[in-house]
Amino acid sequence: MGRIAIMAAMHEELAALLASMPDEQKDTVAGREFWVGHLEGREVVAVLSRIGKVAAATTATLLVERYGVDALLFTGVAGGLGAGVRVGDVVVADALLQHDMDASPIFPRWEVPLYGRSRFEADAAMSERLRAAAADVLAHADTHLGAQALAGFGIASPAVHRGLIISGDRFVSTAAESGALRAALPDALAVEMEGAAVAQVCHDLGVPCAVMRTISDRADDSAHLDFNAFIREIASRYSVAIVRRYLRG
Ligand code: ADE
Repeated sequence: MGRIAIMAAMHEELAALLASMPDEQKDTVAGREFWVGHLEGREVVAVLSRIGKVAAATTATLLVERYGVDALLFTGVAGGLGAGVRVGDVVVADALLQHDMDASPIFPRWEVPLYGRSRFEADAAMSERLRAAAADVLAHADTHLGAQALAGFGIASPAVHRGLIISGDRFVSTAAESGALRAALPDALAVEMEGAAVAQVCHDLGVPCAVMRTISDRADDSAHLDFNAFIREIASRYSVAIVRRYLRG
């Protein structure tokens, strides 16, 4: 088995992952700290993705070209768009799309020029394994997170969803904007700021990738409330438990 990249969107998630790595070595490239070591016996390179599509694309490219990873796993948080996608649920991407890509009328809305497509698929086998790992962790969410933390955020019986994740260089924090995205892309389950860029890089470089997101908000007017506390107390714990479960197989 080769080297796998773990890209984390948030400092707290990366810190929690590093705490589980026995032997990580830091390497700094392009202002980014790449942590090379082992997790659950697998050779991994863990790194903060940085926020937004360009920053994440640069990080993903470096992981493949400099660090020779042969698979890439992305973990972070997202705003829920799909009707049944609630705070505390996990969404694993089947496909990813840039919702702010629009070169119309030259190209159809959302189509990435010269690719002839708007959606980039995540690797099916990795995504199914990630879904199974997430389902296993969420089935024991009380153990991984503590019942009190879950209750504090109103989370009961969290679920795992698979489907379309959309990305753009905007934190979506009004009901008007999330409503417009829902109307335009009715099958979108969640919105974030990096996944589709990483999927495009992985497509270009021929490396399989999978993206999982814990739902931190509903991308509406209260999207920013408790955001940091949620990442610290819920998302980073989910993330480490699911990534470790994924790596154990
Ligand atoms: N990541 C977490 N919540 C988000 C939101 N509402 N919009 C964009 N990215 C997010």
